[in-house]
Amino acid sequence: MADVLTVPGTLGIDFGTSNSAAAYRAPGQAARLLPLEGAAATGMPTALFFNTEEQRTHFGRDAMAQYLEGEEGRLMRSLKSLLGSSLLQEKTAVHGKLVSYQDIIGIFLKRVADQTRRALDGRLPERVVLGRPVHFVDAHPERDRQAQESLAAAARTAGLGEVSFQLEPIAAALDYEQRLEREAVVLVVDIGGGTSDFTVVRLGPAQARHADRTQDILATTGVHIGGTDFDHRLNVEQLMPLLGYRHLGPSGREVPSSVFFDLSTWHLIQWLYSPKALAAARALRSDYRDLHLYQRLMRVLDAREGHRLANAVEQAKIAASSRHAAAAVELGWLEPDLAAEITPEVLGDLLQALLQQVVACAAECVQQAGVAAPDAIYLTGGSSALRTLRDALRQQFPGVPQVEGDLFGGVATGLAYA
Ligand SMILES: Nc1ncnc2c1ncn2[C@@H]1O[C@H](COP(=O)(O)OP(=O)(O)OP(=O)(O)O)[C@@H](O)[C@H]1O
Ligand SMILES: [Mg+2]
Repeated sequence: MADVLTVPGTLGIDFGTSNSAAAYRAPGQAARLLPLEGAAATGMPTALFFNTEEQRTHFGRDAMAQYLEGEEGRLMRSLKSLLGSSLLQEKTAVHGKLVSYQDIIGIFLKRVADQTRRALDGRLPERVVLGRPVHFVDAHPERDRQAQESLAAAARTAGLGEVSFQLEPIAAALDYEQRLEREAVVLVVDIGGGTSDFTVVRLGPAQARHADRTQDILATTGVHIGGTDFDHRLNVEQLMPLLGYRHLGPSGREVPSSVFFDLSTWHLIQWLYSPKALAAARALRSDYRDLHLYQRLMRVLDAREGHRLANAVEQAKIAASSRHAAAAVELGWLEPDLAAEITPEVLGDLLQALLQQVVACAAECVQQAGVAAPDAIYLTGGSSALRTLRDALRQQFPGVPQVEGDLFGGVATGLAYA
């Protein structure tokens, strides 16, 4: 007899660096995305905000809004980037209690579980499948294994029980396969916030009936580069000079650069607000010739506006990428009339080296698969919208059609089919 607390079928959870989504598939039916935030929205930003005044935790868009409205509290983003690093077990105070970052991932997954129950009459699906990138950590199998174990442990504390894992790019392929009418060898490209993953897979209506798909997976590769690295690069080069990066001090030396790199890295920003880090930043004063730049840096740090800056850069990146036109970085909150912009040319130039590594990883995947060229390229993940990335893939694989999938929901849907 089925447990009264569970419902037959599979829950797929795509715990992403930037966005998360969940999908449910009842036996014999099509998978559907679940609303994680309100009734309409399906996916949600992987973000938490601990509001200190009301002692409450906010999630997703609500968390971002609270932070940007200047509520008192702490924002957490890019938590997935901590999996596999020693920072994951560091403790931090949340609503008066010390918890690890792994526990915070657990709190986030519990929210996903709660929202799933809301959508399914108070019950959870019998099986839960979580996605994982091909590599959480590049070239470090031990830390990679640890990363998956930590995620499984966080899922247990969230009340999800024993979860199984499926590679994210394979999940994306399963979603695509539902729409294919004949057999094809497809290069699945998933460029997300934290990782770029590639799979060459044989797909088709006949293959879809195989219980075990290992035979159909011809190769997988992955590299730890994604949209947050693009944000980092754009932030360092376009914004940080306004705060003193590469600025020459009275002695003719540049201001030490590490604060600018950390301030441009989503998952490191919160560490800059510790008393020790703030004291170190204050000590940079004597390294500046132009104190105006120093004051901007300190304004960002003292007011804990690092995520706001990173968010402004990310929004400008997305706007420049989707409109293919220059987009202003919103900086009026830092200083009236202070302006910066991201143009399509800047995207092309600054991201070129990173995108070349991404495309090299795609080429390696196709080579490992032993095929001359794939029949199609299936694009998923938010960063696959970048035109420069698509152009680079077109150069590498001339004449191969590029098919755009559901950039944000495809992995979760596929996981529910796993
Ligand atoms: N139109 C766009 N152009 C360029 N980048 C975009 C666009 N839309 C979203 N992005 C970027 O896509 C990334 C998020 O993509 P996605 O939701 O697929 O990642 P994720 O699943 O959270 O990450 P991962 O799979 O690496 O863990 C962010 O870095 C975001 O800035
Ligand atoms: Mg993803």
